[in-house]
Amino acid sequence: MAEHKGAGDPPLIYLNNAATSWPKPAEILAEVTRCLTTPFFEQGRSTAGGTTDYPSATREALAGFFNADEPDHFIFTQSATDSLNLLIHGFAKGQKTRFHAITTELEHNSVLRPLHTLEGEGRLTLSTLPFDDGRVTLQDIKKAIRADTRLVVMTHGSNVLGSLQNIRPVSEYCASNDIFLIVDGAQTVGQIPINLSEIPECAFIFTGHKALFGLPGIGGFYLQDPEVIAPIRQGGTGTDSRSRAHPNDMPQKFEAGTPNYPGIASLLAGIRYIERQGQDAIINKCRGLTALIIRELNKDPNITLYTPAPDLPVVSFNIRSLDNDEAGYILAKAYNIITRTGLHCAPLVHNRIDGGKGCIRMSCSYLNTPEECRQAADAVREVADSADC
Ligand SMILES: Cc1ncc(COP(=O)(O)O)c(C=O)c1O
Repeated sequence: MAEHKGAGDPPLIYLNNAATSWPKPAEILAEVTRCLTTPFFEQGRSTAGGTTDYPSATREALAGFFNADEPDHFIFTQSATDSLNLLIHGFAKGQKTRFHAITTELEHNSVLRPLHTLEGEGRLTLSTLPFDDGRVTLQDIKKAIRADTRLVVMTHGSNVLGSLQNIRPVSEYCASNDIFLIVDGAQTVGQIPINLSEIPECAFIFTGHKALFGLPGIGGFYLQDPEVIAPIRQGGTGTDSRSRAHPNDMPQKFEAGTPNYPGIASLLAGIRYIERQGQDAIINKCRGLTALIIRELNKDPNITLYTPAPDLPVVSFNIRSLDNDEAGYILAKAYNIITRTGLHCAPLVHNRIDGGKGCIRMSCSYLNTPEECRQAADAVREVADSADC
């Protein structure tokens, strides 16, 4: 991958993959170029014969990747944020009366803010469950259930703590109690194997630009039962154009306008790349790199680690007397190491772990090397030791 690595002195070390992955594998860039240099073709819209129908091919690939039955129930959106907005607002639109929703303190603002907006409009009442050891369990959820609970929205993996949530029992409970479950897979898709046939009747969200190695601006969701969600967008679909009403068929029900063809092509190439490498090989390598960073940071008493044994490649920490933004700035300017600092759009997690100050996060990808991770950990320790701790 040397051709993609950043130049510079010292050479760039990119450890901000939980925000957005970089570099992108060469195969993905090649597929995007192929897509942009041939006329766009999509069933029902255009007939540029001989070129790839990227939306259809990618829905098929997603169905195989997630072991899902219905390729047409994969909807393309701009991002995980866009998916969450479509699903949360679309679910609320379909409810005749005010209802109770449950979420968790682990969530990203892309979950919290749509829910708070609906709460502010008096459309729902919200319970936000605290986590214990990075997790919210089915037992916690059961304790919060009320007669009018209709919706649970929860992350599959925390972007600050790297903790995985055990979604399967939650989905089984929700399915048998007439509660709709929306799962935010922004941090898990591409990182760990996900079998949607084992997670019944939920909406499962993904984003393209993180561990799927795709472009920013592409994401989506899988929706087993389209009747649960009312569409909040209408427009051209290339089908049934005389009808004044937007089509109710999948996937058109939730898609309107010209799709992001290059983004969809990047998603297709990302899935193929992961399948070629092997999902287990990816998570094993990422876990090894993450363990290496943690081992090194643990040696320094001036470093407070919040992720002693994460499931996902996320290492969150603070340097005792140093503001996290300042530490990130020093790492970037003096060492050419890219991390992410601050609240990571998950403010409730920080209230619990670092007094709401925020922290530094290092997140590796399959394309990082042990040497890069060792150098990055050494740099953090050097900064910690030279700070006035
Ligand atoms: C857990 C989680 N959910 C949602 C998002 C939003 O993803 P996107 O950038 O695709 O909107 C992120 C991105 O940081 C995330 O980490």
